[in-house]
Amino acid sequence: MIQKVRGTRDILPPESRLWLEVEAIAQRVLGGFGYEEIRLPLLEPTELFVRSVGEATDIVGKEMYTFSDRKGRSLTLRPEGTASVARAFIENGLAQRPSPLRVSYLGPMFRYEKMQRGRYRQFAQIGIELLGAATPQADAEVVLALHTFLAELGFDDLVIVLNNLGDPEDRPRFIELLLRELAGHRDELCADCRRRWETNPLRILDCKVPRCRELVSATTPVAEVVSEEAQRHVDAVEAMLRGLGVEVRRAPRLVRGLDYYLRTVFEVVSPELGEDTVICGGGRYDRLIADLGGPQVPGVGFAIGEDRLIEVLPAAFRERVLGRRPVAVLPVGEAAAGRALELVRALAVRGLSAQAEVSGRSLKAGLKWAGKLDARTVVIVGGDELTAGAVVVRDLDRGEQQEVPIAELGDFIARTGEA
Ligand code: HAM
Repeated sequence: MIQKVRGTRDILPPESRLWLEVEAIAQRVLGGFGYEEIRLPLLEPTELFVRSVGEATDIVGKEMYTFSDRKGRSLTLRPEGTASVARAFIENGLAQRPSPLRVSYLGPMFRYEKMQRGRYRQFAQIGIELLGAATPQADAEVVLALHTFLAELGFDDLVIVLNNLGDPEDRPRFIELLLRELAGHRDELCADCRRRWETNPLRILDCKVPRCRELVSATTPVAEVVSEEAQRHVDAVEAMLRGLGVEVRRAPRLVRGLDYYLRTVFEVVSPELGEDTVICGGGRYDRLIADLGGPQVPGVGFAIGEDRLIEVLPAAFRERVLGRRPVAVLPVGEAAAGRALELVRALAVRGLSAQAEVSGRSLKAGLKWAGKLDARTVVIVGGDELTAGAVVVRDLDRGEQQEVPIAELGDFIARTGEA
């Protein structure tokens, strides 16, 4: 038997309803903040991610699905969305549009990662990017949109953590200090961190190995080393969010796994999944578009890991969406088969949903089928009622039934049915 590729998933009904509902709410809430969808290719030139996410990051170094196409060009299945948004911004001359530009995206990303709970090789992100505004207010808006979306899903226990990475000019100073503070313990760091020491020392702060964490916790936080201007910026973001009732917590060692960030970075963690399983990551990236050969346009945004978000959805949300029960339409007798389809069509066109019995079951077998589907309402089509222009609607939970004229069936189902 052919099996799915490791790290990919089949999302089956009814679980897929959760995805649709989450995406509908994302579109409503993020759309409400002015973010319109941008649809971008899953395939990009490999160089795009090397130059944006960064050559020394885990993503580019060991996690990309990269291959040569038939003409020998190096292509990569996108591991994230921000780089593609930046490329599209430059390529389509979006700097000509009213500034700032607000876009959202939703779709699969690919990273060759070690498998564990909440970590897949194909996963989906829901993200937004705000391009063209460098103010603290822009950062606050992006975090507010995130917070509003999570609140609309019914979350009340997620924590937004935030840090200040300063500007790229601050970085050499910080890295020098970090390495000086860790110098006496270099041999105690894990093998990865000893490699990071040479290639990308900032990543040492991100290491999950307990001893590395312990050593890092004694070093000076990056936010204390950054310029006054960067400090003022992130302090203002934090103050504005507090004023808006959005609780954020400082995470002095938060660095994020992508190289393009500066100043504000943030993540959302779930107490349920633990601190290592991040639901959402984001931050400011004012040099990215220029570094890719475009104009000097600042940016800020976030991406939510949809798979992880769905794993921790509040119980009430899950119950509301998964608890919806189907309406079954049972034709009795051959003459009723087409009429059953006609009724389903009439309901579907009204935005209701029902499923017809199409396997030729008897009434008894049909009711059993409806029970297995967990239908609450069964519409029985046939016999004298049909001749009289009516159907029998049975409530399986109550064991009651009544005759309903076909012309009123839609209103009746809308009032009493579930699907
Ligand atoms: P990221 O932190 O690499 O940031 O990914 C964002 C989110 O995607 C993570 O917080 C996580 O929930 C989810 N995610 C990442 N890898 C996996 C995986 N292997 N399996 C399941 N979920 C995963 C970015 O991608 C940036 N582009 C975010 C951003 C947008 N920054 C500014 N704008």
